[in-house]
Amino acid sequence: MTSQYRVNYHLRAHKRDSLIEFIKGMLLTPFVLHSQPTNAQTHVTENAQRFSEIFSSIEHLIQEHRSFTRQGIPTYSRLAKLVPSIGTFFTPLPLQQAFERVNAQDKISARKHVPPSFNDVRRILNMAQAMAIAPQLKLVTFDGDMTLYADGQNFEEDHGLTALLISLLRRGINVAIVTAAGYGDDAKRYEHRLSGLLAGFGKARLEAEEAARFFVLGGECNFLFRTVIQQGNRYGLEYVSDAEYAASGLRSWTDSQVQQLLDVAETELRDCVERMAISAEILRKPRAVGLVPQAQLTREQLDECALSSQLALLKYQGSPKSQPCDVPIPFCAFNGGNDCWVDIGNKLIGVRILQDMLESPPEATLHVGDQFLSTGNDLSTRTAGDGENID
Ligand code: IMP
Ligand code: MG
Repeated sequence: MTSQYRVNYHLRAHKRDSLIEFIKGMLLTPFVLHSQPTNAQTHVTENAQRFSEIFSSIEHLIQEHRSFTRQGIPTYSRLAKLVPSIGTFFTPLPLQQAFERVNAQDKISARKHVPPSFNDVRRILNMAQAMAIAPQLKLVTFDGDMTLYADGQNFEEDHGLTALLISLLRRGINVAIVTAAGYGDDAKRYEHRLSGLLAGFGKARLEAEEAARFFVLGGECNFLFRTVIQQGNRYGLEYVSDAEYAASGLRSWTDSQVQQLLDVAETELRDCVERMAISAEILRKPRAVGLVPQAQLTREQLDECALSSQLALLKYQGSPKSQPCDVPIPFCAFNGGNDCWVDIGNKLIGVRILQDMLESPPEATLHVGDQFLSTGNDLSTRTAGDGENID
């Protein structure tokens, strides 16, 4: 039996992106029907032409969907019928041009045995998004772990991204790291994790005005920091108190409501530990509760913890026992790769806080993250701006 038959695909729906699956399906037809050519060069050119036409058609479907969205009836679009879970596109996507660029480099159309994959389609969508947003970009937000640095690691000094981030700041673009990592108002902990980048700011002698365009938002949306030049040309982070910016309406919860929600999450995580005989520590913070394993857990075990706590909290919020509040408190239960966390708030709120503060509308905002699937913590940002999905 091959591994393909051992996977239960019914349990993996949350691992898929429906738009990417739809595009993959469209590309599969010409791949299968034209995979045995007589002349190699003809095959490459003809398949490139067919793929390019498919991307052009999908580009038009997206344009049509955007026009129905503007009329307030997105579900009427052809795309919404083909991909019912489709969200909002804040910019058009030049998919045909993006395909041609990616194909010129990766020669997807030259392959005879491996059809266009999830990763190929995702790269093309990312390229199209970057091309579309570049002229009006005002705010780029990055996830931290697994996007800018390895899980639990720090931003290293010789990181190739330092120069690119600096060039964004110098061009007047605001840059923020929106991370789940929650250390309260302790600027030193965030400075430590970003020490390589801050040292890079120093080496590049960023002007105060340029450095001030760089922010860190920790605990998904809870703790904001700005960059300041301290004594001796040292670049550091400074906590911005809640009173200094308008998060009202976006983070309107009381501590007692938060603690009740965290109690429910903690109980569920402890139940997971017992049920699956996991050896793990449960960490409680003022705005989060986490399960940190003592030995590596499988992805399935961590997904189980994330999905169980997600469901327990939704049930609690729907039950008469929950403390009344105007809107249910947003939370984020996710598989962090090596741990599982339930945070109060989410990155959607985080990105919205920054958009309000920096006057960046969704069509000028880009979030780059690694966790856009339903047990990930970057997914929610899709509602506030355009997303780039990386591994
Ligand atoms: P992100 O990918 O930058 O959003 O960071 C996610 C990771 O931050 C998680 O996988 C955890 O390892 C780590 N982390 C540290 N503190 C917290 C917390 O309070 N809530 C959630 N994640 C945390
Ligand atoms: Mg991440």
